[in-house]
Amino acid sequence: MFFSKIQKSLVSLCDYYKDYFSVGTALSRWTLFNKGIEQKLALKHFNEFVAENLTKPMFIYKDENTIDFTEADKYLKFCKKYNKKIRWHTLVWHAQMPKWIYYQDKECKELATKEMLEARIKKYIFAVMEHTKDYVSSYDVVNEPISDKTYKLRTEEDHSLWQKILGPDYVEKMFTWAHEANPNAELVINDYNIESTIGKREGMYNFVKEMLAKNVPISAVGLQMHISVNDPPVEQIEETINMFGELGLKVLVTEMDVSVYNFEDKERIEYTTELLEKQAQRYKEIFECFKRCAKKGYLTDVVLWGIMDNRSWKNDFPVPGRTDIPLLFDGKGKAKPSFYSITEE
Ligand code: G3I
Repeated sequence: MFFSKIQKSLVSLCDYYKDYFSVGTALSRWTLFNKGIEQKLALKHFNEFVAENLTKPMFIYKDENTIDFTEADKYLKFCKKYNKKIRWHTLVWHAQMPKWIYYQDKECKELATKEMLEARIKKYIFAVMEHTKDYVSSYDVVNEPISDKTYKLRTEEDHSLWQKILGPDYVEKMFTWAHEANPNAELVINDYNIESTIGKREGMYNFVKEMLAKNVPISAVGLQMHISVNDPPVEQIEETINMFGELGLKVLVTEMDVSVYNFEDKERIEYTTELLEKQAQRYKEIFECFKRCAKKGYLTDVVLWGIMDNRSWKNDFPVPGRTDIPLLFDGKGKAKPSFYSITEE
């Protein structure tokens, strides 16, 4: 049984942190279009939204002549109606792009030329920035550009065709165009494991430092923070936020969840009271760290990647058929120990 109503006695999470940072969540299609418990939780506890999927290019850039905002507009109007801060995820990525964009022919055999792909993505960036400028304040301009193998820009071996077709300065170009289209927007480079893999962190750090030296208009680094109850240590998370903050960039936590598994675990474990308490302590120590980083002016937003455990992307990933419980509310919409741990002194 789902709760028919949300727990009214709970403090609102975003109100609780209002002096430090915005607290956001990803809205799935389900949450957006169903007036159920999850939508109610979203509206009460979060003052910032990002679409989990429906603002990704493959759902908007239908073909060369069709940039279709019909679905995205429903999301924008919903956020605006409830006066929420809105993030846009994402302008450029190597996944969830429309396949045709990289090719000359309908059969997707011959790669597009540099000029062709540049014209297509520039047109898209300008169209999105123009269409959303009255709604959106923060954009993931390029998502996940750093390779997990080389810690440099992804190549074809890392399933990305961007560098292959456009050359190594493509990220700079995307930021420059986004800034030209809307000089007031917050422009974010977003990636995962930056807080947990030291080599990848160095790669991102050197990359953004170079961008700043070239006056590329980048405003912030997004740390996705798909982490686990065991790793990385909170000290390393804090050090990471401080590193980018000291460079003069804002830091946003963009997709946080706390899996009860290590990435390499294969077996399902029991979700015991002790495990839920361990997760609660983990959320608590990390939110304390976020407060310290916010006080320094480095961290401005903490966005969770979902609301209720039963709808998290971590169910089925990385082990198909296995559930996970990485969020603050259980599958019935009831606050977990993790929620209480970050909203009680
Ligand atoms: O909507 C279809 C449904 O009609 C179909 O029956 C079903 C069958 O597989 O698929 C549904 O689409 C799925 C979609 O999520 C909506 O649930 C796609 O298969 C699935 O690939 C897609 O996964 C999303 C994933 O990005 C795609 O890469 C996840 O929901 C979303 O949480 C995840 O988000 C990413 C961020 O964008 C970037 N950072 C990592 C993060 C987690 O992977």
